[in-house]
Amino acid sequence: MPNKKFIVFEGNEGTGKSTHIKFASDYLTQKKIKHIVTREPGGTSFGESVRSVLLDKNSDLDSLSEAMLFYASRVFNYNNIILKALNEGKYVICDRFHYSTLVYQGLAENNKRVIELHELLDSYFSEHISLIIYLDASIKTCLSRINTREVSDKFEEKGEGFLVKIKSSYEKIFLNNKKSVKVLTDDSVSDVQKNIQNHLDKLIDE
Ligand code: TYD
Repeated sequence: MPNKKFIVFEGNEGTGKSTHIKFASDYLTQKKIKHIVTREPGGTSFGESVRSVLLDKNSDLDSLSEAMLFYASRVFNYNNIILKALNEGKYVICDRFHYSTLVYQGLAENNKRVIELHELLDSYFSEHISLIIYLDASIKTCLSRINTREVSDKFEEKGEGFLVKIKSSYEKIFLNNKKSVKVLTDDSVSDVQKNIQNHLDKLIDE
């Protein structure tokens, strides 16, 4: 039986996802564990095209249209990249997954249809997830990290009120999710990485 594991990283803007995903991937490489890293939106050339539409600062798409595009990119990436890698016995690290759509387009925008869409599709997307690493940080930390970036995307520019909504929505959805672990990233990078490494070690030993 191939030793596949599906790891999802989620979290607010400025919680350090890129840094910690790189660390997780390097750690798996060090452990000689075959894996792929994919991201949402993106992961395939179709997904990258959808990404440029979704992150376009001039776009005035409503939340449901955005959600449908995120889902189109996700279904394609899931079927063609993620499930294929898992079937080959590889680990998969995914930078955001369907929880981002629930939080960003659904709960933060109070969009009932997007929330219903999540309820309809949740079991399909979450079936193979082994671990969700939910990165959390204080709003102050998130803002200071976002403000040091040279280029920011549409969602990073929505301001403090939006970050607060994203944070409280993530708290709500992961409160009772047994696959999720919360990792606080206000601390030094090395402390955060020790914490992530412990979670990865547990998963590898399962
Ligand atoms: P990205 O550059 O990956 O940002 P981050 O480093 O914060 O993950 O851009 C993805 C942006 O798209 C991010 O601001 C969150 C947003 N997003 C949604 O709004 N809904 C979704 O379903 C996904 C996957 C991302």
